[in-house]
Amino acid sequence: MANVMWAGRFSKQVDETVNAFNSSIAFDGRMYRHDIQGSIAHATMLGDCGIITKSDSETLIKGLKEILADLDSGKLELDPTAEDIHMFIEAELTKRLGDVGKRLHTSRSRNDQVAVDLRLYLRDEIKTISDMVRELIGALIEMSKQHTETIMPGYTHLQRAQPITFAHHLMAYVWMLLRDLERLSDAAKRMNVCPLGCGALAGTTYSTDRFQTAELLGFDSPMPNSLDGVSDRDYCVELCCALSLLMTHLSRFSEEIILWCSWEFKFVELDDAFATGSSIMPQKKNPDVTELIRGKTGRVNGDLVTLLTMMKGLPLAYNKDMQEDKEAIFDAVDNVKLCVKTFTPMLKTMRVLKDNMRNAAARGFINATDCADYLVKKGMPFRDAYKITGTLVAQCIEKGVTLETLPLADYQKMTELFTEDVYEAISLDTCVRERRSYGGPSPDEVAKQIALAEEKLNAQA
Ligand code: ARG
Repeated sequence: MANVMWAGRFSKQVDETVNAFNSSIAFDGRMYRHDIQGSIAHATMLGDCGIITKSDSETLIKGLKEILADLDSGKLELDPTAEDIHMFIEAELTKRLGDVGKRLHTSRSRNDQVAVDLRLYLRDEIKTISDMVRELIGALIEMSKQHTETIMPGYTHLQRAQPITFAHHLMAYVWMLLRDLERLSDAAKRMNVCPLGCGALAGTTYSTDRFQTAELLGFDSPMPNSLDGVSDRDYCVELCCALSLLMTHLSRFSEEIILWCSWEFKFVELDDAFATGSSIMPQKKNPDVTELIRGKTGRVNGDLVTLLTMMKGLPLAYNKDMQEDKEAIFDAVDNVKLCVKTFTPMLKTMRVLKDNMRNAAARGFINATDCADYLVKKGMPFRDAYKITGTLVAQCIEKGVTLETLPLADYQKMTELFTEDVYEAISLDTCVRERRSYGGPSPDEVAKQIALAEEKLNAQA
């Protein structure tokens, strides 16, 4: 019993299976830096408020810093049999400092301790992920600049619909990712309040200064309700939501790249360093990276459901169920980082097969809307123009030609409004160039949205 901190009340050793079952150090060990950071702030406050002596406070801080250095260097290793990271560090401190070490936990509980650790940890991870997403957006913007004139088919129902450019398509993802960045920074902002000092649930009788610890740890303020402080995991759910959406965007993009790599599309070719072969079919070059990203999206969504389900029935305040928060949110964070880290260089090295995009755009009658618009601009009501164009498309399909190659005589059989200039009006270049409505694919418009996106990106740096 001697080495278990809460041994006092117990008359028996805890069963080995319970010990192992209860222990979280295998996954919360990664928060050791943040745990020590929180403890240093707590020890500072205890000393400043006269709850412990200044000299004890300084000894504790020195001891905590030494443990940090030893863990960083590998001189000290985490004990896998410890109950959790908080118990491990406190026990190590007491081993090193004797009685002074036992003073650290005055007016604190592991409930506020773990809550503050996790916020500190996730705050750092949000910074890392946001930087990675910023890099990805930067890469997409650079690619877009190269492709404002690269015509490709735009799709609805995965059927060729209207002509766009590759830049226009890429920029759609830039806007999604910019929203993801905003959501991450929103989550970070709401997360940035400090639960330290909430104690087990009901605060403390010592005259602590929660504003001081909040400030020392870079939080905007202390959490105003001690029950909420130790019970709240909204910040995990909210971050996981933002990560799920980010993954959803990467997954849709991945799905498109998978299609584009196929022989059926052949719009892009992945660099050999970012594709894999088959063990039996020598001709294969598989887009495994994108498929894994699509797959891992399900996993991050699963983490979100884990968190929501874990919380939905919990009475206030702390319940051990909440220990499960870490594995879920860490899994989401880890996998998002893995995905973005691989996706960005894969994208940067991907070869864009412009000619194939253009050839695909030249088939599939994606200029049919423009043909109808041509008649409208000559005075015909849109529905009539729509019908005539539909009939012409049917004739083309029957003859095996395109609208561009259908003889003028066939056009004029439908209406005298068609003249030689119809060919210019329905050429792919015209169709794209003339789509100048705000947010549209014309090279000028896309250049404008690239500038706007760059402005947004810089504002969020
Ligand atoms: N390892 C625990 C967790 O992650 C720390 C908090 C323990 N609190 C308690 N009252 N048992 O949730």
